[in-house]
Amino acid sequence: MTTPIDATTTSAWGELTARADGFAPDLRRWFADDPGRVERLTFDLADLRIDLSKNLVDDGILASLVKLADEVHLTERRDAMFRGEHINTTEDRPVLHTALRRPAGAEPRLVVDGQDIDGDVQRVLDAMTAFAERVRSGDWVGITGKRVTHVVNIGIGGSDLGPAMVSAALEPFATAGIQARFISNIDPFDLAHKTEDLDPETTLFIVVSKTFTTLETLTNARLARDWLWSGLAASGAIDGSETQKTDAVAHHFVAVSTALDKVAAFGIDPANAFAFWDWVGGRYSVGSAVGLSLVLELGPDAFREMLAGLHAVDEHFATTPLERNVPVLMGLLNVWYTNFLGAQSHAVLPYAQQLSRFPAYLQQLTMESNGKRVRWDGSPVTTDTGEIFWGEPGTNGQHAFYQLIHQGTRLIPADFIGFVNPAYPLTDDGRDVHGLFLANFLAQTKALAFGKTAEEVKAEGTTGPLVAARTFPGNRPTTSIFAPALTPRVLGELIALYEHLTFTQGVVWGINSFDQWGVELGKQLALQIAPAIEGDADAAAAQDASTRALLDYYRAHR
Ligand code: F6P
Repeated sequence: MTTPIDATTTSAWGELTARADGFAPDLRRWFADDPGRVERLTFDLADLRIDLSKNLVDDGILASLVKLADEVHLTERRDAMFRGEHINTTEDRPVLHTALRRPAGAEPRLVVDGQDIDGDVQRVLDAMTAFAERVRSGDWVGITGKRVTHVVNIGIGGSDLGPAMVSAALEPFATAGIQARFISNIDPFDLAHKTEDLDPETTLFIVVSKTFTTLETLTNARLARDWLWSGLAASGAIDGSETQKTDAVAHHFVAVSTALDKVAAFGIDPANAFAFWDWVGGRYSVGSAVGLSLVLELGPDAFREMLAGLHAVDEHFATTPLERNVPVLMGLLNVWYTNFLGAQSHAVLPYAQQLSRFPAYLQQLTMESNGKRVRWDGSPVTTDTGEIFWGEPGTNGQHAFYQLIHQGTRLIPADFIGFVNPAYPLTDDGRDVHGLFLANFLAQTKALAFGKTAEEVKAEGTTGPLVAARTFPGNRPTTSIFAPALTPRVLGELIALYEHLTFTQGVVWGINSFDQWGVELGKQLALQIAPAIEGDADAAAAQDASTRALLDYYRAHR
C-alpha cells in the first residue's frame, strides 16, 4: 500500500496558503482587466460547455492548484484506478466503474487479477439488453399473460439513487409504455404509496442490492412479494398454492446483485438475475446492471448512449493534461474553496426540473466518497475533507435559499447546470418559457459574480439603511455547465464529470473514496434496538438514557 502524500507538506500547499492570505477576489476588475479570461477558463468537454471564469481564481492560483495535483501524484493514482490496481485499500479491491463504459471490442482488453473484465461487462450488458427487449416487446409477460407496464426498482443508496435520478432526468425518452418506480425507504409508506395504483399482473419488481443483505431492500422485497401474492390471489389469478406463488415470483421478480447465491435463496430464479462485481462501488454503479430499470424504461439504445457519454468523459479524464483536465480543475477548485477559503458546502443548481434528484444523487457520490477522517493507510487526514453537497432545481431554489448564497455570511460555491433546448418547448403569450427559465440561470450567475454596489443602489434612488440591505457583495463563485439538451449521452457525461472531480479531491486529501465504513455502526445498532421497539424489556434496558426515554415515548403513544 502506498502511503498517501500529505498535501499540506507540498510546496504547492505553501503557495496556496500564501495566496489565500489576504485574498481579495474582485471578479468585476478581473473581467474588466482581462478580456481573455472567459476564453481561457471555458472548456468544451464532450457535449458540455463548462465556464469556470466566475470562480475566485486567477492564473497563479490555478497554476498552484495544478502543481498540487502533480505533487500528490494524482496522475499515478488515476492511472492505477484505470488499470485495476487495488486502490480501494480497506476492502482490497480494484475500482473499475470506468470499465462498465468501455465500448465493446475496446483494445487492449482489460484483464484484472486474471479476470476478463471487458468480457464480463459485455456479457451482462447483452443479457440486460436481451431481457429488456423481451419485456419491451411483450414477449416476457406476467403470470396472467399481460404485458409489463411498470417496473419497480427496490434498492437503496447506490442501488436506488442513480437509476431513480436518471429515470426522472430522461423521462421524455420513455416511449415503450413502461414506467419505472423506485422504492428505497424502509418506511412502509414508500412501498404502500408507490404500489397503491399498480396492478400486480402488469408489475415487474427488480430487487437491486450489491450485497443482497441490506435490511431495507430485503424487507421491501418481502413486502413486495406479499403484495404480489395477495393481489394476484384477490383477483383470482393464483390460488395461493406454493407452486403458483413460486411461478408468480418467477414472472414478476428479477434481481441485480453481486451475490447470486443469496438471490436464489430469496426465491428468484438465478436465470433472472443480473450480475455485477465487487469492483463497482454502489454509488458508481448506475452504468452496471443496477441500471436495469433504465434499460427497461428507456430502452437499450438510450442506456448505451448514456454509457458512451460516461466513457467520453472517462477518456478525457484519463488522457488530458492536468491543466486542461476539466474534472481535475473542478475538483481542485473545490479543494481551494474548502481548504483555503473556508467553504463548508457546495450547491448544485440544475436549471432543469428533470434533474430534481441530481443533487441527492451527488450527495451520495461526493459525501459517501469523501466524508472521511482517515486516509487510505489509516492515518488521520491533515485537512478538512468532504464538503456538504446540496441543491434544488432553479428557479425553485431562487425563491427559497438563494438569499443566503447572495447576501449571507458564508461562502457557497455553486454549480449551475442548464440545457439550451427543453424537453417540452412551451410558449406563454408568444414568449419561449424555456428561454425565460435560462435567463434566470444567466441572471443568477451574473448577480452572484458581480453583485450590486452601494453606489448602484443609491443611483436607483434608495437611501438610508435600505442601501446596505439592497447591496450585493458579489464575488460569489459559480461554475456554469451548459449543454445542447438533456440527452442520455449528456447525462452520462455529467455523471462522470462529478465522479472524477470527487476522485480528484479524494486523492488530494489522501482518502480512499471507495469505501463507506461510516454507515456500518448505525446499521448494527438498528438491529440491536429493533427488539426493544418490539417490546423486549432487556433490549430496552440495555440502551442509553436518551434512547430509553424515546422508547418509552414510543410505547406510550403506540
Ligand atoms: O449506505 C451504505 C451502502 O452500502 C451504499 O454504499 C450502498 O449503495 C447501499 O448501502 C446499498 O447497498 P446494497 O446495494 O448492498 O444493498
